[in-house]
Amino acid sequence: MLKIAVLVSGGGTNLQAIIDAQNAGGLGDARIELVVSNKDDAYALMRAKEAGIPSKVIRPKDFPDKDLYGAALARELKECGTGLVVLAGFLVVLPPVFIDEFAGKIINIHPSLIPSFCGEGFYGLKVHEAALSRGVKITGATVHFVDKGCDTGPIIMQKAVEVLEGDTPEVLQRRVMEQAEWVILPAAIKKLAEREEIR
Ligand code: GRF
Repeated sequence: MLKIAVLVSGGGTNLQAIIDAQNAGGLGDARIELVVSNKDDAYALMRAKEAGIPSKVIRPKDFPDKDLYGAALARELKECGTGLVVLAGFLVVLPPVFIDEFAGKIINIHPSLIPSFCGEGFYGLKVHEAALSRGVKITGATVHFVDKGCDTGPIIMQKAVEVLEGDTPEVLQRRVMEQAEWVILPAAIKKLAEREEIR
């Protein structure tokens, strides 16, 4: 069985998509073993609780520096046998010490078609604001492996979404989440669960 840890910071709609997929038998032999948030008021923690999934809050500000935070986070995940780390709306930049501990086993969902509208400063609504101001007609979401760069790891899966006349950043964000993020994140996990090297 592939044990998953999901890292969250906010509303947890991507976490909910993974939970729903797991309950519908859509994650293969992957299972969510732990949810970790960097913020104790993240609604994602309520979603984990309602689903009966153990959760923890591990806050960077409780550690003297980012490396000690990363080491503590890695230890926590190793202790519960994590085979795949899923960043689902997680807004903390993970330090190299953490990336090294889980090399090739960390994935992230980004709300654009990488390499467009990604990298430093491109997160949440800012991504959709940039897409609208550039005037793209197609955007979407990307699941990619996390390396030591920002949104630079190998792409695993993408899904395109139409930009419609009159879209606001909020309306576009919701469409990208509904039509792309919540579809490809569970699908990518299922795909990775079938690979021997991911355990
Ligand atoms: C959303 O902007 C989503 O596009 C990105 O993270 C933000 C929050 O997602 N992946 P969630 O509702 O906390 O999963």
